[in-house]
Amino acid sequence: MATAHSTRRHPLLCFCIFLSSMLSLSHGRLTPNFKIRAVNLGGWLVTEGWIKPSLFDGIPNKDFLDGTGLQFKSVTVGKYLCAETGGGSIIVANRTVASSWETFKLWRIDETSYQLRVLNKQFVGIDSGGNGIDMVAIVADTPGRSETFEIVRNSDDLNRVRIKAPNGFFLQVKTENLVTADSKGDGSWGNDDQSVFIVTNTGGLHGEFQLTNGYGPVNAPQVMTEHWNTFIVEDDFNFISSNGINAVRIPVGWWIACDPTPPQPYVGGSLQALDNAFIWAQKYGINVIIDLHAAPGSQNGYEHSSSRDGSQEWGLSDQNIQETVNVIDFLTSRYANNPSLYAVELLNEPLSPGASLDSLNKYYNAGYNVVRKYSSTAYVIMSNRLGAIDPQELFPIAST
Ligand SMILES: *[C@@H]1O[C@H](CO)[C@@H](O)[C@H](O)[C@H]1NC(C)=O
Repeated sequence: MATAHSTRRHPLLCFCIFLSSMLSLSHGRLTPNFKIRAVNLGGWLVTEGWIKPSLFDGIPNKDFLDGTGLQFKSVTVGKYLCAETGGGSIIVANRTVASSWETFKLWRIDETSYQLRVLNKQFVGIDSGGNGIDMVAIVADTPGRSETFEIVRNSDDLNRVRIKAPNGFFLQVKTENLVTADSKGDGSWGNDDQSVFIVTNTGGLHGEFQLTNGYGPVNAPQVMTEHWNTFIVEDDFNFISSNGINAVRIPVGWWIACDPTPPQPYVGGSLQALDNAFIWAQKYGINVIIDLHAAPGSQNGYEHSSSRDGSQEWGLSDQNIQETVNVIDFLTSRYANNPSLYAVELLNEPLSPGASLDSLNKYYNAGYNVVRKYSSTAYVIMSNRLGAIDPQELFPIAST
């Protein structure tokens, strides 16, 4: 958007948010006619695939990212693999139509190894209490090596695959009701080969988790650093300030508080980019709204909150809420003395009913107090939940 980057089609101007004194921002440094005209720096410090799809281009097997749904149709019986009752039971191959029980969500280990999560959140493995080859989906929560499968694609037709189980053998469909891991997988790839499946990809997420885990620990740091250093630059702030915009909203992810060594797959360095933004903001007289866009556990299951597979687990425990408060503590203490800090948005788009009003009230209350610990002037933004909610549900907490 700035002259030096005139060939970029910049997404930045797609999002303008106008906050005026009409909004229920908690606090009081309003001068009557001051209006914020802000632009959202989306897709910079929190990945959203649709904003910059090319970021994903260098990932091997980039159609098999975390959270991608795959359906497997056996070529011999012509029916789909299914986790009976959505998990907790056997794997069969007797479904003519694929929907939720027949969709396996990927947890990517590397470009060929994956764990397969079924509807009720359990993982596919081998029935260890049985004969050692029958397929089941009963492992909950923490999959390990014995739930890790290799997906081998036919190089002539990438949608024809074999699935190699952790016992070293391939899955095969002996009958509609019997799926076992005991094939050598050395057949023809033809329609008479019991170890061959045709894959339907139901799509998936393209967020920060998918991007960093897709590139893996060796390549992700370089890709992310390059992106942070080029997607938003000082000249953008210059451009913004000379075009009648007086604020930026900067979405950040919780892992920024663990910089420079965030937990895998996240990559250190986004904090440096945010530091730069505050320096530029001060230089060009721009207000900054920090927006916690991705909270630990994901507050809405969307890619822009860095959900791994669509799960939404934010706010389910007090510990998780406290971790989120700690991120706000970290950010506010770091930037409270910068005159550009204008507002802290405690959480972007929590989704009802997964994010309960009760957990949100707890968090907003604690988050407000932690901002006030460092700043008596920064506004605190408490966003409404998405979903079927009472639009006034936050009035009680916002008015205390
Ligand atoms: C599939 O197989 C399981 C196990 O034998 C059975 O309980 C289920 O009813 C079958 N479903 C269909 C649609 O054939």
